[in-house]
Amino acid sequence: MLEIIVPASSANVGPGFDSAGIALTRYLTIKVKKAEEWKFIHETPLVPEVNHYKNHYIYKIATKVAEWNSCTLPPCHVTMHTEIPLARGLGSSASAIVASIELVNQLCGLNLTEEEKLDFAVKIEGHPDNVAAALLGGFVISVKMGEETKYKKLPKLDMDLVVYIPSFELKTDESRKVLPKQFKMKDAATASAISNLMVSSLLTGDYKLAGKMMESDLFHETYRAKLIPNYYEIRSHARELGAYGTVISGAGPTMISFVPQGEGEKIAEKMRTIFPDYDIEKLEIDEEGLRVKTYED
Ligand code: HSE
Repeated sequence: MLEIIVPASSANVGPGFDSAGIALTRYLTIKVKKAEEWKFIHETPLVPEVNHYKNHYIYKIATKVAEWNSCTLPPCHVTMHTEIPLARGLGSSASAIVASIELVNQLCGLNLTEEEKLDFAVKIEGHPDNVAAALLGGFVISVKMGEETKYKKLPKLDMDLVVYIPSFELKTDESRKVLPKQFKMKDAATASAISNLMVSSLLTGDYKLAGKMMESDLFHETYRAKLIPNYYEIRSHARELGAYGTVISGAGPTMISFVPQGEGEKIAEKMRTIFPDYDIEKLEIDEEGLRVKTYED
């Protein structure tokens, strides 16, 4: 019996578009037991049932990764539990990809390194921000350069997070369609400078300046704001309550505030009274990323 646990993630953190990601304290868990035939059992209302195992996202990814590694997967019963809602900008597909790669790693005894797991994950997801955070935990900056992904994890940050999850879905494809195809060199340089200053402010503990830079993104936030009801209201109320900065989580529609450590629960409670239709929760940055437990049958 094998248990694979992968955190949710929030990509971009404002100006770190397609590059910055943080792992969150909500999880996807799969329990795996070798069996006569494949079967996926969902212990969760957040993911719909799938009519045939061959159509299951985890099965499809796992067989692809197994093929890349020239191995054959033994049939298994996979019981899935998740706290990560689909299409909300919380990295549900990234965590499923990371879980699938680890499933192959364990079942085929591949002993993959973190770098190899990340390269497979990026090959599937296209950009590294969510998958790197889900795999490694913490706040990760990464870049895809050709076939290779380079990454660095930041030291632990002393912050709480508050997430605002609406009840509607927004597909990443839709949310990417509203972005400009090109930027002028001058604007791209400013957008990149804002991102650099956000990271250096985080590293030097100037969370106020980091929050200001988060809210100054030029790459995607203003274009996507029109797809996200209450975008400006959530930002300004959170700021009034003491948040450093509030941004879209990934491609949205969830938003996320970075707030002083110890203040998260209080701010979440006040925001719930202002936005009663949202699932609002205090979370933390998960520093561990992917974990695996094995049990005797
Ligand atoms: N960086 C991605 C985006 C995250 O903002 O579109 C969603 O996959």
